[in-house]
Amino acid sequence: MPPISTNDIRQAYLDFFQSHGHKVIPGSSLIPENDPTVLFTTAGMHPLVPYLLGETHPSGKRLVDVQRCLRTQDIDEVGDSSHLTCFEMMGNWSLGDYFKDEAIKLSYQFLTEILEIPHEKLAVTCFEGDDDAPRDDEAAEFWRGVGIAEERIAFLPKSENWWGPAGQTGPCGPDSEMFYWIGKGEPQGNPASLPNDWMEIWNDVFMQYNKKEDGTFEPLTQMNVDTGMGLERTAMVMQDVNNVYEVDVVKPIYDTVLKLARDELDMETPDSDAIRHARIITDHLKSAVFIISDGITPSNVDQGYVLRKLIRRAIRSARTLGIENEHFTPIVADTIIEQYGSVYGSLKEQSKSIRDILSQEEDQFAKTLREGTKHLDKVLKGIPQGGTIDGETAFHLYDTYGFPLELTQEIAHEWGSKVDKDGFDTAFAKHQDTSRAGAEQKFAGGLADHSAETTKLHTATHLLNAALRKVLGDHIYQRGSNITTERLRFDFSHDEKMTAEQKTEVELIVNNAIDADLPVSFEVMTPDAAKEQGAIGVFNEKYGDEVKVYTIGNEKIMVSKEICGGPHVARTGVIGSFTLKKEESSSSGVRRIKAVITGGPEEIEVAGELSK
Ligand code: ALA
Repeated sequence: MPPISTNDIRQAYLDFFQSHGHKVIPGSSLIPENDPTVLFTTAGMHPLVPYLLGETHPSGKRLVDVQRCLRTQDIDEVGDSSHLTCFEMMGNWSLGDYFKDEAIKLSYQFLTEILEIPHEKLAVTCFEGDDDAPRDDEAAEFWRGVGIAEERIAFLPKSENWWGPAGQTGPCGPDSEMFYWIGKGEPQGNPASLPNDWMEIWNDVFMQYNKKEDGTFEPLTQMNVDTGMGLERTAMVMQDVNNVYEVDVVKPIYDTVLKLARDELDMETPDSDAIRHARIITDHLKSAVFIISDGITPSNVDQGYVLRKLIRRAIRSARTLGIENEHFTPIVADTIIEQYGSVYGSLKEQSKSIRDILSQEEDQFAKTLREGTKHLDKVLKGIPQGGTIDGETAFHLYDTYGFPLELTQEIAHEWGSKVDKDGFDTAFAKHQDTSRAGAEQKFAGGLADHSAETTKLHTATHLLNAALRKVLGDHIYQRGSNITTERLRFDFSHDEKMTAEQKTEVELIVNNAIDADLPVSFEVMTPDAAKEQGAIGVFNEKYGDEVKVYTIGNEKIMVSKEICGGPHVARTGVIGSFTLKKEESSSSGVRRIKAVITGGPEEIEVAGELSK
């Protein structure tokens, strides 16, 4: 019997690749560590970028995992049959080991032998070639070799069959995607001729190029394979359902939402609009629960802002469905935790804070809505009866008070007034452009930004962590780290404001370690061995069987030993001079430091493995 349930498919994928020499590694947080360029982990390869660029991975050259991912660019599509903001991506990697031939054989074998998908229901696409790289006849030849018929192979341009770099520069290459027939009757054509009848389920990326800053592509010395298979879509195929909300683990969540609406509305047969809203609530709250469990609380910036937006969109959809419970989000969250808790243990561990944070955000939103109503009343009193609320004002209500346009229109209508909808649309588009520009800038540095500056700041972060433990005590643990080319930001467990003396002392310890020009190197070992050696780490499910431990120091003085993926500078001297800029509260029990470095050289050497 092939695996049918989502849990069985996930396990079958790991087992299959393990039996083909891959090490199972744990998925990472949704919040990228030390990556300034993206807010969320959007693909299984994100946490592996340093290794795709040549860093040694402690678990070897063949890896497999399941990664929770979050993508918000298609948020407006959520509500259709297949778009989700939060999904699981199964992936296998070759870091300079096997390439196209074996990757394609493994994919085909998993699809046809493990999932037992009849091979007639499969089709593939390959890169058609352009000025940067040739047509991928190699991949097509391997597909023919495993038995894919000629008419099921399509060649498409870069927009479809090329993946990466995830930022401006870095590893990338042609990809080959696998599709499943969802059209009516016997399979026909291919994904190019009948795009709506073939659904993509898996992507094999052949990372054989490095995109350089000048936009040209040079062959990589290490040829990698990066694959991503959508778990929810694969479950749709295996469970023979036609939308993701019918998939076994998602359906109970969707049903909870419908039940809440039914209790209020007696909604036996929801119409298409109601279905869309119920799907939005299901999707957005699932994303919210996962984001919260990875340590984020609602706020007005970065990940916290996205979290707030997801929760508020879910609340608005709930109101549309007539769900009036004071706190309905924790009820939905309970079902989400029930469905995913056995695989994602932290959901269970944090169920109380997840419920609390959601309830608080519901209260906060209710308060904002009340204030918005007051503001709107004032606006309405200021215009003559039968007058029009201008677009900017309507947009201000939307943007600042979270008022959907329909709500403003409704209230205006009660006063016998109207809203300038075109003006609202114009203001909306203007705002989108600005926020999109901001989002693009976030991406511009490139995911593969392991530049000299960020590498130096990364090593400075380890020194800072060690110095904080020395000055404040052993209760200090990293709660978050974010590095841009300009600064480091470090969140740590501590519940008091640091005194001026403590800050000066921390700065001094870091600068002394820099001045001593200490060597930095790493060793690969088991998490237990790392613990025994006193390495700092979180020691939870996050680690695989083997970890890299970075040591800063020599036989005489050892300042830091920390579990980390790297990269780091080879000697601390290049960091220059360290200045602590700000120390503030981040959230309850967590403080945040921002610091900068100046004066180091532009060229650096990267720390290597300790020679024994
Ligand atoms: N990184 C590739 C993707 O996300 C596998 O499709």
